[in-house]
Amino acid sequence: MIPDPAPTVRELLAFYLEAGVDCALTEEPIDRLAELDAPAPRAAPPVEAPRPVAAPAVMRGEAAPAPEVAIASAREAARTAPTLEALRELMQNFEGCALKHTATRLVFADGNPQARIMFVGEAPGRDEDIEGLPFVGRSGKLLDLMIGAIGLNRTTAYIANVIPWRPPGNRTPTPQETQICLPFIQRQIELVNPDVLVTLGNPSTQTLLSTREGIMRTRGRWFDYETGGRTIRALPTFHPAYLLRSPSYKRLAWQDLRAIAKVLAG
Ligand code: URA
Repeated sequence: MIPDPAPTVRELLAFYLEAGVDCALTEEPIDRLAELDAPAPRAAPPVEAPRPVAAPAVMRGEAAPAPEVAIASAREAARTAPTLEALRELMQNFEGCALKHTATRLVFADGNPQARIMFVGEAPGRDEDIEGLPFVGRSGKLLDLMIGAIGLNRTTAYIANVIPWRPPGNRTPTPQETQICLPFIQRQIELVNPDVLVTLGNPSTQTLLSTREGIMRTRGRWFDYETGGRTIRALPTFHPAYLLRSPSYKRLAWQDLRAIAKVLAG
């Protein structure tokens, strides 16, 4: 049998891109196979079971904390942010989410913080990571058209994501990463205090509306979203990226948009 020729660099790069590997995490390559050959570290001496501690602030300059510490710290920090600007600054300095270290920048929000309607997606992609604004790539262009169809734009709507840092290669955020970021988007919703909250796609819907049902069942159904001080009407609809892949569902998305327009008008 004739062996396959070794792939060219171009072919390898095309393979990586297709697999979603589109950014370098470090300047220097790391030989993970060499690490496997290295002698195993000696067993650490037994340690006492950790005692519960109050949530410390996980801020700039500190080592990455355990997930439960990071979640507690995010909750505490978000709770104390009095304004959107304070919240943004606090998130810039937050070190509890590893995604921050692979993303180019924080993608906080876009639009009008006084808007009566807030849209929340899942996480920034490549274009958002470059520009520092949510929904500016292909799915963002479709979102603009969707909201434009009911007379809205970025001066009359507010747009954010559950996760404010791009996951490397656009991979799905882990449940831990989502839980760490959740207090920040919850506080952002509370501070914007819209009349209508629209969750875009399954991850945002399930995370914010605490449901395990899929988007096919939840879309178009009104939910109550509790901010702590107020109940906001919330409507799940399809994520624009999904509509780009499955345009036949635009008909249902249009029904959702009309329902939203009706509530805003009433
Ligand atoms: N998809 C999202 O969920 N959010 C963005 O900002 C862009 C794409």
